[in-house]
Formats: sequence, C-alpha cells, structure tokens
Amino acid sequence: MPSTSNKNEAKSIFVANVKGGVGKSTLTIMLARALASVMPPQKITVIDTDLQRTTTEFLTLSNPEINIEFLPITPAFENTNISLVQQFIRQNEFRPGHVVIIDTPAGSSQRLWNLVGEGYSVLVPTTLSNADLAPTENFIRNIDKVKLRYNKNHPHLIICPNKVPFGQKDFSMMSDRLDNHDVVIGPPIRDLASVRHFYNGKYDKWDNQSNQNAQDDFKKFGDFVTKYIINGELDKIYNKEKLTKNIIPFEKANN
Ligand SMILES: Nc1ncnc2c1ncn2[C@@H]1O[C@H](COP(=O)(O)OP(=O)(O)OP(=O)(O)O)[C@@H](O)[C@H]1O
Ligand SMILES: [Mg+2]
Repeated sequence: MPSTSNKNEAKSIFVANVKGGVGKSTLTIMLARALASVMPPQKITVIDTDLQRTTTEFLTLSNPEINIEFLPITPAFENTNISLVQQFIRQNEFRPGHVVIIDTPAGSSQRLWNLVGEGYSVLVPTTLSNADLAPTENFIRNIDKVKLRYNKNHPHLIICPNKVPFGQKDFSMMSDRLDNHDVVIGPPIRDLASVRHFYNGKYDKWDNQSNQNAQDDFKKFGDFVTKYIINGELDKIYNKEKLTKNIIPFEKANN
C-alpha cells in the first residue's frame, strides 16, 4: 500500500486488541452504523471473525444494507479463514471508495498479528484501567514489530479509550504511558448504560432520545474515523510532521 492515500482509496480498518471485553465488537458495530449514514452502505463490508457472531447478529438485524461476512478465526479454522480475510482485503484494494471493517477475536497469535499488520489502520479499544492498558501496550509492541519487519508505516494505530467514566477529562495517564509508541489517541467513548443493554435485541429502540449520550459519542467517533482514516488525514500528518516523537495524542494537541 502506498505511503500516501486519498479519499477514494479503499481502506481496511481492523478493530483489535489481545484483551477481551474491551469493546471491539461494539466499536465495529457502531462504526459501521456511523459510516452507513455518511457514505453508501453498499461500499461498507464488515468481516466478523469472532466465533461469538455478536457483530453479525446485531448488524444483520439493524443494518441489513451493510455487507456482512462471517469468517471465524479460531485455532481450528485459523489458517483457512485468515487466508480468506487476507484475500478479501487485497481484492478490496481494487474497489475505490470501499471500506472493510474487521472485528477480531481476543487473544494472541502471531498469524492474527500478521493479518492485522496488513490493514490500513487498526482501532484498538481499551479502558483506562491498568489491567487493560498493560496488555494493550503489549499488543501495540507486537504490531509495531510486524511493521518494522516489513518496513511499513501502515497500519496506523489508533487507541480508542472506551468505557470512560463520565466527567473524566484527564487522559494524561494514558498518553504518558503510550508516549513511546507510534499511536494516535482517538475520541473517548464513555461508559454508556444504553450500550451495556443494546445486545438484548433492543437495537430497534437504539435511535431514541434516551440514548443521546451514546449517539453523541459514536457520532464523534464516526466523524473522527471519516476524517483521519477514510479521508486520509492521518497520512498527511505522518508525512508532513516527520515525527520525531512517535505520538499524536489528539486530546493533548486539541487543548
Ligand atoms: N462504551 C461502553 N459503555 C458501556 N458498556 C460497554 C461499552 N463498550 C462495550 N461495553 C460492554 O462491554 C462488554 C464487552 O464489549 P464487546 O463485546 O464489544 O467487547 P469485545 O472486545 O468485542 O469482547 P470479546 O473480546 O469477547 O470479543 C459488552 O457487554 C458491551 O455491552
Ligand atoms: Mg467481540
């Protein structure tokens, strides 16, 4: 993949972390929905590689106009389906304006990291707790190794603070900790009661006013991904700044 991109170039976005329960499937679902409201849904494909099928089940009901592929990556299927996901991403590169979002299972496997390393960008959800930040850092290091090995500046890693307590404004603990890594910190998503309940088949009630906080957070998140990933703003920043310090914490930079 070239080091610069434009708006029309196809993009593959992985949602990944070794840590379970950090919000990978939730972010995949909400991102697909957010993008479907700003671009033709036919140009969006979601690949659900998690055997739990959460993403497939939710999106099939809520947004049938989005393409959904279920290709579980488990030790038993790993080799076959990793190759299929790889093929899908490579074919997609020839489809201008298309976006593939890949929800991945928790866990650490070199083959999965190599696959994630082929993406244009990786969204890495984590809470602010040390119990999640420590394995997240480990995950970042492993993807960095893959990038180094193949001498690539993609995928761009975007850390997505998730389940952030309401009122939390200080992200210095996270940005200090990630200071030495080649990552960007995306907009925070708060600990939202409505998200905790939305898997019980209540997706049809999702769009009502009581979910205003959730709608606000996911709108900001979708806008961020559209601007920085889909429209290629991150590539411009990386190319222009010739970064010596390998981090652009937006929360800091914006203040
Ligand atoms: N912003 C949020 N606010 C409140 N609850 C959340 C939020 N994000 C995720 N959750 C809840 O946390 C749980 C785990 O989320 P999710 O299934 O998206 O994580 P995951 O990383 O995909 O997990 P797994 O590793 O098992 O695939 C779910 O019950 C979900 O509803
Ligand atoms: Mg999941």
